[in-house]
This record gives sequence, structure tokens and C-alpha cells, in this order.
Amino acid sequence: MPDITNNKKAFKRYTITSALPYANGPLHIGHLAGVYVPADIYARYLRLKGEDVVFIGGSDEHGVPITIKARQEQTSPQAIVDRYHALIRDSFKKFGISFDVYSRTSAAIHHETASAFFRKLYDNGKFLEKETEQYFDAENQQFLADRYITGHCPHCSYDKAYGDQCENCGTSLSPTDLINPRSVLSGNKPVMKKTRHWYLPLDQYEPMLRKWILEDHKHDWKPNVYGQCKSWIDQGLQARAVTRDLDWGVKVPVEGTEGKVLYVWFDAPIGYISATREWGEEKGIDWEKYWKDPESKLVHFIGKDNIVFHCIIFPCMLHAEGSYILPENVPANEFLNLEGDKISTSRNWAVWLHEYLEAFPGKQDVLRYVLCSAAPETKDNDFTWKDFQARNNGELLAVFGNFVNRTLVLTHKYFDGKVPAVEGSPEDPRLLESDQQALDALAGFPGKIMHSLDNYRFREALGELMNLARLGNKYLTEAEPWKLFKEHPERVRTILNVSLQICASLAVLCEPFLPFTAEKLKKMLQLEFAGWARAGQAGLLQPGHQIDQPSLLFEKIEDSQIEQQVKKLLNTRERNAANEQSAEPLKPAISFDDFSRLDIRVATVLAAEKVPKTKKLLKLQVDTGVDQRTLVSGIAGVYEPADLIGKRVVVLANLEPKTIKGIESHGMVLMAEDPEGDLAFIAPEKDFPDGSIIS
Ligand code: MF3
Ligand code: ZN
Repeated sequence: MPDITNNKKAFKRYTITSALPYANGPLHIGHLAGVYVPADIYARYLRLKGEDVVFIGGSDEHGVPITIKARQEQTSPQAIVDRYHALIRDSFKKFGISFDVYSRTSAAIHHETASAFFRKLYDNGKFLEKETEQYFDAENQQFLADRYITGHCPHCSYDKAYGDQCENCGTSLSPTDLINPRSVLSGNKPVMKKTRHWYLPLDQYEPMLRKWILEDHKHDWKPNVYGQCKSWIDQGLQARAVTRDLDWGVKVPVEGTEGKVLYVWFDAPIGYISATREWGEEKGIDWEKYWKDPESKLVHFIGKDNIVFHCIIFPCMLHAEGSYILPENVPANEFLNLEGDKISTSRNWAVWLHEYLEAFPGKQDVLRYVLCSAAPETKDNDFTWKDFQARNNGELLAVFGNFVNRTLVLTHKYFDGKVPAVEGSPEDPRLLESDQQALDALAGFPGKIMHSLDNYRFREALGELMNLARLGNKYLTEAEPWKLFKEHPERVRTILNVSLQICASLAVLCEPFLPFTAEKLKKMLQLEFAGWARAGQAGLLQPGHQIDQPSLLFEKIEDSQIEQQVKKLLNTRERNAANEQSAEPLKPAISFDDFSRLDIRVATVLAAEKVPKTKKLLKLQVDTGVDQRTLVSGIAGVYEPADLIGKRVVVLANLEPKTIKGIESHGMVLMAEDPEGDLAFIAPEKDFPDGSIIS
């Protein structure tokens, strides 16, 4: 990725946004790695440098997926978003994502802000108004926007493509592109009906976009982001509808538009502005300058599927409104996979944040560390539990934790927990070359980490932080103070002073990445507030300063904990495989009367033998409690005839007799069949007498 720290423009304040998650499901590690962990690191880093920062989050509560989910669960969209908004907000909080405000788009202040924004564009003639024919479900009397319609993708022929996008090949679609379209509501073929909507003519903004992105940001935006924007612009932009026929969302603020709301991708990004306004009004801060003063730096943290909305559509909206700044950067990430497969909410293929927090209490920083180390910054990346364990045990614990712990334990052992002064005997210099080298290297770290962070290279920054811990660990190991104390206590003073200075800088510098660890370590070191500017300096801890007893910063993660998580995923994988294979559709409904005509009984097998010249058939003699009879069953190969004798089975007893391979079969033994074609007899859970009725 390009380097933007040269030719750096100075900004007075920072407005940092993170994509508003849809409030229709919990958060998973993909969301965290792609958006919230990097955004939080960036916000914390800037605050540590003393910058003026507002870090914005909130729930995206409109859109068709939410109304569809409400329908499926026979509840209201508001009930759905209330549930997930609370879950998402609370898990962000526990995970240490340091939003200045976490708002939601169903809030009154958002409806008001989004309405006013639309109205201003409307009044200034920024929209085109068009009447077109759109798909309509006649049975449900509803227009079929976006995900209310599915069909075959015209590009990859995936058969479950949506009206706005094919999730298989990623192409963005409009409903009329779909082949063999169907209503999600009724399953019916939709009809065409006239409707009126407002469009934002993106094509009119092409010169602005070309200059702003393709020229001005050619060298500082990530290649993946820049490339996507270029391809959108080069393909030719078209007018985009910004309203929908739906009853869930921000009402279109124009007379005579009942039943119409703003398109979710029109209102949601305005949610960043509403949230900033909510924060400013509550704190008595002039929020507008965070969005309107050109000396404010606006940065959007998002996943790659959001690029077009944040780099093309929202900027056009802001530009059309006229009083807003445009984003300075949009450091979008690629996707995180889980154990080799794409994360999927509907297939439950995910590590859910709220479940992680329960399974690994107090280990927020471990997940933050792993997700930042494996962040999909330049390409898709994979999360595995083995890697999670290895990074905790081999890096956090063995390097960072081990170094800090040894330094603090030795300081207590030799000096009662008081920071020793750098000392030397008259004939020895006070600092050996190795001490000086360590201190010089220490001094260089804040600059290196800063450089990576300023360029949105979070993995690299974290790598440098760990290099500092590695440096400390190596220095201490090679200096071997435990061997010197008797003969050269003055050397030990120096060595521990240097080691403690490294610990103190680690405490400051790790805060953006590992905030819970920073807190603990600062407390152990009794380190008063120290900002970024002091890090790297040898005087962070003064001689004589008393430190606390050490406690462990990281714990070993055992194999059993990892096995449990892997097992959970294996179960999911199995369940999904079974579900996908047993996609047998339901048969048409029958009446209760139809069902009650079946006479189903518990019976016992008296005798069993193979039917000659067949592979699958067994001839069984059973006792139905009412009679003893012969029947033929297609289950040979699964059971040995001899093993069946005395077995409890269930028989459909009033099936009309049928001759099979010359044997007259009186009824049918019921059996279950799994998706792979494996067969098993079924039987009551308790030992019931023959002839018991099943109904
Ligand atoms: N809810 C969207 C998603 O999860 C992101 C919305 S970002 C915003 O993909 F800008 F619209 F708020
Ligand atoms: Zn497709």
C-alpha cells in the first residue's frame, strides 16, 4: 500500500466512522477483523497522540433483510432491531470498541436528519423523478424491492440471486436482470406495475469523482479501493433510485408519497451524521465542524462490499448537499474466512462475538491481537482456532507476557519493587554497548509504529509492537541479571532499569491494540498518564518509583479449549451438509382425516431371512399384537437377519397386501433414511407392548 506520511496535510480533528452493522444478526469475527478492530486501533492511537477525535458507530436498522426476518419470525421489524441493537451494542462495549457514540437509525434524530438531507436535495432539484414499471406481488399487494425478489443470476446462473445483488458472483443487479424472477413473499411470478421514484443522477458527478478519487487520491488510497472505484467510474455511472416502495424506513418527506421510504443505502450513511449530531448535542460540542470544516479528516472504515456506497454514492450525496467535506480515505478491507470457508450468518459458519466473550472471559485482547495479526488488509485471510492458540501461547504469552513478568518479578526480588537507577562501578562505564543498543532501538519504535498506523497498515504496526517486546525479551535473556546479582549488583540495577523502561513503553504503545492489557500493565507499573509522545524515552519510570506486584498478563490456552471450539464448528459443518442434502421439498398437505386412516402399530420381529436373488429385501415374520404376519422389507444389507429377531419395530398394518418376489407382504415396516441413503428401523422410545397404536 502507498505511503502517505510524506506530503501529509495537517488536520485539526478527525471524524472516524465504522460501517453501521445491520441489526438483524449478531456480530462475528469477520465484522471485527474487517472494520471495528482497525477503526478502534486508529481512534485510540489518535487520542493517545492528543488529537481531537470522534469515533462513530451505530446500528443500521432499515432495509429489506430486516423486514423479511420479522416476517419469518412473525414479529415486527422494530422488535427485531431492538433485540439485535442491544446485543450488538453490548458486545462492542465488552470487547472494548471505544465509540464516542453508538447510535441507531431507527432513532428520531436520525429520521429527522435523513429527512432533512433528502428534502434539501429535493428542494434544490438534485433528484430526477421517474415513473417506471417494477415487479409487484399481486397476492400480497406489495412492490418487490431488492431482496423481496429472487431468481437466476444472468451472470453465473446461481438460482438464489436477489433483486439487488447476486451473492454467488457478487454482481450488483436490478430486479429486472433476474431470470425467472419470483416473489419471496408468495413464491409467485411477479407482475409489472407502475410506480414513481427519485433518482440520484450519479453520471452528473463523474467529473467530480474523477478528479477527487482518480487524481487526488491516486497515491494514498489502497489499491483495492482505488481499483474498484476506477472500474465503476470507467464503466459509466447511472442514476440510482434513492427511494423504495416499503413501509419500513425513513418516510419520503414529500407530499403524497405514502408507502414510500428512503432506500436503506441512502439513509444509513447519513446515520454517521445523525450519530455525530446526537453526540455533539449531548456533550454541548459543535458537531458540525466534524463534518463541514475542511480541516477535519473524515475516514470511513468498511468491508470491501461497501466500497461503492462509501466512495461513490455517499460522496455524491454529500457533494450534492453542498456543505459537507468528503472522506480523506476509505481503508476498506477484504474478507476474513473461518477455517477455510466463507463466513456465513445463514449457515451459522462464524465465531460470534457474544459467544466468544462468554467462552473466553477476560480474553478480549487475545482476539483483538489475532484478528489484527490476520487482518485481511490486502487479500482475504483465514482465521483458525489453531492459529489463535499458537499466537496466544507463542507470542502474547511467550514473548510479551514473559518479558514483562520476568522484569517485574526480578525488580521485586532484588529491589523491593523500586525502580533501580542506572549505575556503574568506577572502573565500568554505566551503560554497556548492549544497554545503549537496546535504548536506541527502543527510541525508534514509536516512530515506526506511527508510520504504519498513519498508512493504515495495522498488521505491520502490531508486528513492530511485538518486535519491541521481542527486543526486551532478548535483552533480558542475554543480560542474565539473575547470574550477576551477587557479584555485580550495579549491573543488575542497569539491566532492570532498561527492561523497565521497555515495559513502560510497551504499556503506552500497546494501548490502541491491546487496551485491556495496557490498563493492567500501567497499573502494575503505577504508570501515571503517559501519552504517545513520551513513549520510547528512557525516563518514563524514574529511579525510586514504586511498582505493584506483577500478575500475569496472558494465560496459556489449553488444547481442550481449542478442541471444544473446533468441535462446535465441525458440528455446524455436519449439520449444514445434512441440511443441504436433505433439501427434499415437503409433500403437499394432507387432512387430519387422511392421517387417521393409517393404522400404525408397535410390533416385534419373530423371524427374518433374506429374499433369494435380491440384494435389498428381507422376509420378516412379525407379531403386531393383533396377529402374526409376513411382510417384505427393503432393509437387507443394513441388518443381519439374525440380529433382527426380537427387535421392536413399527408397522403400517393396514396397507393393502402386495406380492413382492412371490411373497405376499401384509403391511410395511417403517424406517428412517438419512441424506446419504443410510436406513434404520424406528421404534418407540420405551418398551411398549406389541399392538400399541401410533398416532
Ligand atoms: N449495514 C451495512 C452492511 O453491513 C453497512 C452500512 S454502512 C452505512 O453492509 F454507511 F451505510 F452506514
Ligand atoms: Zn451471479
